[in-house]
Amino acid sequence: MNGCAPVGSNFRMAMSCPSAPPITRRGFLKGLAGCTGGLAVAGFGYMRWLEPSWLASPRHTLTLPAWRAATPLRIAHLSDLHASPVVPYRQIERAIIDTLAASPDLICLTGDFVTREPDEPDHYARLLRRLSQAAPTFAVLGNHDGGAWSRNYGGQPDTRAVRRVLDLAEIQCLHNRSVTIELHGQPLHLVGVGDWWAGQLDARLAFGGGAGRQDELPTVVLSHNPDTKEALSPYPWDLLLSGHTHGGQLSLPLLGTPFAPVHDHRYVHGLKPWRDRWIHVTSGVGNLHGLRLGCRPEVSLIDITPQYDET
Ligand SMILES: [Fe+2]
Repeated sequence: MNGCAPVGSNFRMAMSCPSAPPITRRGFLKGLAGCTGGLAVAGFGYMRWLEPSWLASPRHTLTLPAWRAATPLRIAHLSDLHASPVVPYRQIERAIIDTLAASPDLICLTGDFVTREPDEPDHYARLLRRLSQAAPTFAVLGNHDGGAWSRNYGGQPDTRAVRRVLDLAEIQCLHNRSVTIELHGQPLHLVGVGDWWAGQLDARLAFGGGAGRQDELPTVVLSHNPDTKEALSPYPWDLLLSGHTHGGQLSLPLLGTPFAPVHDHRYVHGLKPWRDRWIHVTSGVGNLHGLRLGCRPEVSLIDITPQYDET
């Protein structure tokens, strides 16, 4: 011991070191308030100016028995671009650059291209067109992209504006319809559904009227809201791609994701099994209100690999 010890019962944390001034209770509390205020400002700054634009690129690998091609299929999954005053086009452009750098075979966009309306739609379309020029690109719409829900939120009363951007970008909008494409010599079935909150989901139409699997093609469904898994369960699919949750947008220690706008909080973020299928929910590129905490924006990559027989 060098003789520096707390003194007195009146909370004076004065040290007996002759060179150090005594720390009074008032001084201690002022310091504590200053530290707390500083931490609060730093925390808010992180939520507002750092994390919302701090793009991640998580990679997942998924084995699907129906994928028989020897070459894996790389899907880039982006969602919730939310072009708006708090999500500038330069942030969306960075996500597009990251996507192209990963050389995906297929690009899937699962809705909420805007928060209210497309500002400079031709510019937005030119940005998105860089995706469709690099790989087959398909999209579905989200609740913010127009319709009854969006109108009540102060957005577009219908989906025409966003659809026009997608048309100009040469991105196929799978609005309650499906297509079969071929990649690496392997046919792949893609199904897209309208948004659930917008009252536009018609799974029967999207799957071509039948609930029975027509063939053994690997099937990927694009649906903005992961809560649609139950409505889609009678139909044949292997992987559901969704967004909508923004990963919770604010993911809090102990509390989890209380603000995620879904009923089933098991499917807020990431690749997870559901019954005998898979669901991938991306935290998206943009955000609402300019805030994120504990769930960085992302461009997700999913590599689908064949299942080899163990003989
Ligand atoms: Fe969204």
